[in-house]
Amino acid sequence: MYTDEMRASIEKVNETRKKRLEEKPPPLEPDEKQKLLEDYHPDYREDKQRPVRVGPNAGDRMPVELATCLEGRTRLDPDEVSLNEPDYDVDVLIIGGGGAGVAAALTAHLQGADVLLVTKLRLGDANTMMAQGGIQASTKPGDSPATHFLDVLGGGGFTNEQELVKVLTSDAPDVMNWLGELGGMFSKESDGTMQTIHGGGTSRKRMHFARDYTGAEIMRTLRDELLNYPVPVVEFCPAVELVLDEEGKCAGAVLQNMETEEVLVARAKTTIGATGGFGRLHVSDFPTSNHYGATADGLVMAYRAGCKLAFMDSTQFHPTGVAYPEQMVGQLVTEKVRGIGAQLVNAEGEQFVYSLETRDAASSAIIRECTTAGGGFTTFTGQPGVWLDSPMIEEIHGPGTVKSELPAMHRQYERFGIDMAKDPILIYPTLHYQNGGIEIDENGESRQLPNFFAAGEAAGGIHGRNRLMGNSLLDILVFGRRAGAEAASRRDEVSVGRPHLGHARRYNEEVSEAGLKDAVSPMLLPDYLYGKAR
Ligand code: FUM
Repeated sequence: MYTDEMRASIEKVNETRKKRLEEKPPPLEPDEKQKLLEDYHPDYREDKQRPVRVGPNAGDRMPVELATCLEGRTRLDPDEVSLNEPDYDVDVLIIGGGGAGVAAALTAHLQGADVLLVTKLRLGDANTMMAQGGIQASTKPGDSPATHFLDVLGGGGFTNEQELVKVLTSDAPDVMNWLGELGGMFSKESDGTMQTIHGGGTSRKRMHFARDYTGAEIMRTLRDELLNYPVPVVEFCPAVELVLDEEGKCAGAVLQNMETEEVLVARAKTTIGATGGFGRLHVSDFPTSNHYGATADGLVMAYRAGCKLAFMDSTQFHPTGVAYPEQMVGQLVTEKVRGIGAQLVNAEGEQFVYSLETRDAASSAIIRECTTAGGGFTTFTGQPGVWLDSPMIEEIHGPGTVKSELPAMHRQYERFGIDMAKDPILIYPTLHYQNGGIEIDENGESRQLPNFFAAGEAAGGIHGRNRLMGNSLLDILVFGRRAGAEAASRRDEVSVGRPHLGHARRYNEEVSEAGLKDAVSPMLLPDYLYGKAR
């Protein structure tokens, strides 16, 4: 339901729609884009980042909230945890029950490894499940992994780790075949070929999707497959510390049951951290599209154990988070809405940016519009936003398209009396993705900690300083499978030495010496009572 003030602005959007059908502002030139980012992107705000004071990245700038988390003391006293009689003893320990973790578990199990998957919430409770718009892969004529590679680099501002991009884009077609073999149901043309569309920053239509619930369909496929095999899954039991052996190699993890607080030890020849990102830290005070469990746990544990983090000063704010109604603020409005024709327009009904600009630039342009340019619309709660002209989709493709292509989104708005096929929706950037993460090699292994792997959002370097749409659902599967395969292949060669938590003890000392005693991490769940209530 819109207010009269909103209706007055919507009228202006309606009036300009026909004219805008033929109008497209050009994509930004590199210099223009850089200036826009420096002036408006939250990463560049001096007050929202600071250098972390302890650990392998000491001195590096990152969001204040993450720095505080990394400077936390351990949840458990390292001297109180007995490691000698582990509760689990496996080849491959996987921490995290989202897409990356389950892809790793399937791959490692099918290679003959003895696998244990532990997860903080339930199997599948993860950002994968919430992903909407699609997964990129060069499966169509006229496209190739090389073209995909160039798009990923361009999207990341040429800062990406190129060898990681190479495996991401080369493995992509096979990942789509794999999902198809497992029974993943993607949107298809009437001749049975995959439907594909553009995402921001792509030069080819290579976004494959299952309407607007692609992540849920991928997670369903992976979870159904895993449940066919005797792979133990321990739910509500997050890892809280990595365990090392006397050679400094990863040797498993300490777990803590969320309900009983019982401490358990998992000894493992290889460990895969697939714990997701930091969205629920609400960096730069933004609302988030992220899952409730995205509290940077894997980063904290790996960091204490000596892993370096890459690109942690770079956060992705998705241009189109919900700005109205209030109950949905921060939730994702998939980029697919723009991919099939919706335009970004200001309160006067004017386009102010090319609608499929890369996310960093599109978000910055919206922030500019709502601040210095004065083209934003502010709701009665004080929330700024601009219009996403979703009825344009029906103008281009015909009536009924919004409901058939975006059924989940259409329904979410319908619950609040808004028909996005008929009226535009108000949006504002939302904290969506952690661009950086644990430094890894092509198989997902940490560059500093042997026998520890990271996959999915916990890993960094693949996307450089800006990820393109659809490359996250892809990277969880590419690097989940690679990490699972490499970890499993070591089961006969790795022998685990004497386990210890000396690194955690030393970290606590470093934190104390730096006079930092307040925080305890990993956080496990966001603190909405005393922390940031958004
Ligand atoms: O807009 C979206 O559907 C988000 C996709 C992504 O982050 O890859």
